[in-house]
Amino acid sequence: MFSLILPTYNEAENIPELVRSIKNALACVPHEIIIVDDDSPDKTWHIAQEIAHDQDDVHIIRRVGRRGLSSAVIEGFLSAKGDVFGVMDADGQHDESLLPALYEAALANGGISVGSRYTEGGSVGEWDEQRYLLSRIATKLAMSLCKVKVKDPMSGFFAVHRSTFEKVLPTLNPKGFKILLDFLVHVPKETRAEEIPFTFGKRMHGESKLSRRVQIEFLEYLYDVALGRFIPLVFVKYCIVGSMGVIVHVSAFSLISYFFAGAAEPTFRQFSLSVAVAIETAVVFNFLLNNAWTFSHVRLKGRAALVGFLKFNGACLFGALANYAVSAFLFSFGFAKILSVVVGAFTGVIWNYTMNRMLTWRH
Ligand code: GDD
Ligand code: MN
Repeated sequence: MFSLILPTYNEAENIPELVRSIKNALACVPHEIIIVDDDSPDKTWHIAQEIAHDQDDVHIIRRVGRRGLSSAVIEGFLSAKGDVFGVMDADGQHDESLLPALYEAALANGGISVGSRYTEGGSVGEWDEQRYLLSRIATKLAMSLCKVKVKDPMSGFFAVHRSTFEKVLPTLNPKGFKILLDFLVHVPKETRAEEIPFTFGKRMHGESKLSRRVQIEFLEYLYDVALGRFIPLVFVKYCIVGSMGVIVHVSAFSLISYFFAGAAEPTFRQFSLSVAVAIETAVVFNFLLNNAWTFSHVRLKGRAALVGFLKFNGACLFGALANYAVSAFLFSFGFAKILSVVVGAFTGVIWNYTMNRMLTWRH
């Protein structure tokens, strides 16, 4: 039996026609269709419920308070009854006439079959230069990380044998859109994968949900798989935020000292005050961005954010003290000036990162 998952978010206009054409295409294959909808504002779930009400082989999972293509697909797979699980966009972009071939291929090889835009005979259809280029770069990067190679590891149109799904289930990362890639990164090396060419079609109604945020999450994922075990992604993000904080700090300093002294040289008091305000401005900036991005998985809200902010200030102060102590210590032992300062600064960063991870944003 073939279990086809249709992840949906605002696909109300597409779903009835799509289900009809899928059932035509799968007339000779025993199948079920599972629509996994994330409580779409356009009430896709309601339309899907009506279809499921009249048809025994259509099921709907309505998730409330959750978002994400990959996690929706995994949830669909988990409730599926078939030996082979399939996925396709619920907007008409994937060619449903290939479903029987995808099913047969994954059933026969016990692994994966991919509807492929980049294998001979496939195509991305009418894409603009920019999306084509971005997709090619992302695909090349992604390919280098896969245990099992295919030409289109980012395709959203594929099928996988139940046994292979069960092997990789514990390692899957449910964030974003990269569900097939995640399989190819984690499956055992000897897993078989077959590509079936197709032309990526046009969306029937509505618009793509592949947002900028999803694209950034994708790059983060690539980093995590490639280098995450050497330098954790969270630390890299923390350092990126910190570097931006330096720019905020310098800009804030220039602005405030200009406010006090105009174009003239500031007095020592004005200078010190400007530095102090600039430091706190940078601290606020770092806290907000770290809370929104670096530690988005444990983001603080409301009162907890206020307490977190105070802890963050404390951790930064300790970081600065550690920075000072190490620099002064090395310098007094005859190390070169610049080396002492650099080693001190690194110690400070690692120190306040560690404290913030343990105290401010602890799991
Ligand atoms: N349940 C759920 N939750 N479904 C979602 C979500 C979500 O948060 N986000 C998107 N979907 C559904 C959409 O409704 C659609 O049926 C399918 O997932 C794919 O989303 P699209 O918005 O149509 O993506 P796309 O066409 O831009 O991207 C396609 O190409 C990419 C590679 O170029 C997809 O096939 C991607 O999977 C693929 O990686
Ligand atoms: Mn689509």
